[in-house]
Amino acid sequence: STPEIVKERPKLKELDGYVGFANLPNQVYRKAVKKGFEFTLMVVGESGLGKSTLINSMFLTEIYNATDYPGPTQRLKKTVAVETTRVMLKENGVNLLLTMVDTPGFGDAVDNSNCWAPIIEYIESKYEDYLNSEARVTRKQIPDQRVHCCLYFIQPSGHGLKSLDIEFMKRLCDKVNIIPIIAKADTLTSDECALFKKQILNEIAQNKIKIYEFPDTSEDDEEHKLNKSLKERVPFAVVGSNTVIEVDGKKVRGRKYPWGIAEVENLEHCDFIALRNMIIRTHLQDLKDVTNNVHYENYRCRKLAGLGVDGKPSRISNKNPLAQMDEEKREHDLKMKKMEAEMEQVFEMKVREKKQKLKDSEAELTRRHEATKKQLEQQAKELEEKRRQFEMEKEQWEKENQITVEELRRRSLEGSRE
Ligand code: GTP
Repeated sequence: STPEIVKERPKLKELDGYVGFANLPNQVYRKAVKKGFEFTLMVVGESGLGKSTLINSMFLTEIYNATDYPGPTQRLKKTVAVETTRVMLKENGVNLLLTMVDTPGFGDAVDNSNCWAPIIEYIESKYEDYLNSEARVTRKQIPDQRVHCCLYFIQPSGHGLKSLDIEFMKRLCDKVNIIPIIAKADTLTSDECALFKKQILNEIAQNKIKIYEFPDTSEDDEEHKLNKSLKERVPFAVVGSNTVIEVDGKKVRGRKYPWGIAEVENLEHCDFIALRNMIIRTHLQDLKDVTNNVHYENYRCRKLAGLGVDGKPSRISNKNPLAQMDEEKREHDLKMKKMEAEMEQVFEMKVREKKQKLKDSEAELTRRHEATKKQLEQQAKELEEKRRQFEMEKEQWEKENQITVEELRRRSLEGSRE
């Protein structure tokens, strides 16, 4: 039976009493709070730009019990492999499991042509893990280790982006949310920094690099003002430090120079606090949503369509049965076509051979026929010659013997008369 189609538009009815579904958003919120949040932050950039220092400055001292991290010491160790550090942050009963991914700095090798490979591999491997978990029978709580935000560190050269930065961001921007960061901002004056920011944004636009976009909000909203003030600071110019200095009796994180102190958590000195607030307080959920709805979805589509990360066809793992079947069918068809072509080739070769043989025997026959013909002609000639000779001999003989014959005839007549 066909399903009933209700065309009537439901009328809006004011409720007389309290029903309770207005509480729904709260229920969703409470559920999310109970489960806790997972967030993964990655830092990427050239070697020695202060990535590890910034990660350390960001979360690892005040809110984290630093048992498995070096702590606020001067950390000069070079990062040589992708390192992940997990911290469980707890604030007013809300849990946030934060994973920080420190990547090895690049740019100091002679050949930097493939330096993005380990980073892209890491990001994609986390998408793959998630995709596999989704495909399992029980998928109640899928651990989400996808990279939700990638801070891209730019050298404070004052001369815009390097071609390596452009190339790197181009490859990364359709896989992860990129937030550009000007590293070691204490080395730039405020004017230099403002100019440098403009220059970077221009180059990003010119090269069609899609960095993380702040979500649109309505004009008169409080949130809109906040978004605008944050957006104006992009690319965030940051200062990192692992040392605590006393300023006016207060302990602050900063860098001490002979001429003064650059404070990490002072918005007049750098954008560190704005960046941290944005990631953790205001835009954490949006970063997660964009990762899930845009970047992960893109990955999923590419993967299920049987395409590799670069858009070219790739071998598909056993984990996607439909794509696997498609791939196998394609392979089978190819094999069949190849076999067909081979058989046709063999057939053609055989035909060619047969034709050649026929031609050869035909030539042989004609040759033999010609030879026999010649022989016969020769024989005929010889016979003719013999015949002519015989005729001549006969004539000669007849001439010589003509009188004698007549004589003999006459004598025999005379004899009979007597
Ligand atoms: P790799 O491990 O090679 O990738 O380096 P990295 O980017 O992790 O740099 P790291 O944090 O190890 O810092 C390198 C040096 O830069 C250290 O001596 C830090 O003290 C210094 N440094 C870090 N942040 C800043 C900053 O904001 N300003 C200045 N002036 N120096 C900084």
